[in-house]
Amino acid sequence: MTRKLIMILLPLVIYAFQQAPVIGEPWKAPKEADALVDPLAKDPKAVAKGKKIFESLCWPCHGMSGKGDGPTASALTVQPADLGSKVVQAQSNGALYWKLTNGRGEMASYEQVISREQRWAAVHYIRTLGPTTPK
Ligand code: HEC
Repeated sequence: MTRKLIMILLPLVIYAFQQAPVIGEPWKAPKEADALVDPLAKDPKAVAKGKKIFESLCWPCHGMSGKGDGPTASALTVQPADLGSKVVQAQSNGALYWKLTNGRGEMASYEQVISREQRWAAVHYIRTLGPTTPK
């Protein structure tokens, strides 16, 4: 009886832990991410491509200007950081690309959703949300 119960409960417990929001834990991309080569580094259309992606997929949570004030943001357990803030802008393109690729918690992994190029393009667009970069 107990055994059966454990067998039923164990996967549930494991599942719950995997899904648990990592509140308060800063999200850091691994060091290797900084060295990722940005294929769009010289593409003048990168920002425009990224804007399209952001304005179709990301804004419901991140808000149109990336401040984290999208219409579904209040339903999230972990509030997304202001993408224009120093904490986000201080990260390398590779680190932001890595986060977008791998995801964490409510921030889904976009690896299977959009292409590698589209993910880099979204990073280029995020750069324009910073306080010092022109819109
Ligand atoms: C369902 C809501 C949701 C959607 C849609 C979403 N995000 Fe997020 N995003 C989040 C949340 C929540 C976090 C914070 C995750 C954490 O810290 O655990 C986050 C974090 C991030 C971060 C890391 C910021 C930091 O603090 O370093 C980046 C970059 C990002 N999102 C980009 C995007 C892009 C680009 C898209 C669209 C392709 C997108 N997100 C779509 C909810 C979302």
